[in-house]
Amino acid sequence: MVDLVSLAGALSMLLASAATPGLGGKAIAEQGTASGAPACTSCHGLHYEGNPVVEAPALAGLPAGFIVLRLDHYASPAGKNPLMHSVATDLDPAERQAVAAYLSSLPKPRAGR
Ligand code: HEC
Repeated sequence: MVDLVSLAGALSMLLASAATPGLGGKAIAEQGTASGAPACTSCHGLHYEGNPVVEAPALAGLPAGFIVLRLDHYASPAGKNPLMHSVATDLDPAERQAVAAYLSSLPKPRAGR
């Protein structure tokens, strides 16, 4: 029975590391990646509430699937936004998933900000 508990602990650690190979979503969003993606906060706001100055929309609380779709789009030849094209092409698919999962877990910004 004791073994079941430690097995569960080992399993959850395995799962956690499988979900975030390399950098975790929070680190990507706040610090960017070694492969050159800048921190999302630098354009989208410290709390991902959006930044009208650079026309970056709010990201906090968006569905993870939507964020991944947008990042895939920006990285593709169809992605015309030069800022996000450069950001998205510097993220590999696992990093897109990780950062999307993190951003979607945040509370939505209050209306009117
Ligand atoms: C250099 C500035 C800049 C940085 C850094 C940046 N973004 Fe953006 N992002 C923008 C701009 C500008 C837009 C709006 C583009 C458009 O109009 O299509 C945008 C749009 C988006 C959208 C689409 C949102 C929507 O509602 O359609 C997502 C998702 C996104 N960014 C995710 C990220 C993530 C994740 C990061 C960090 C890895 C990041 N961005 C870093 C400038 C930036």
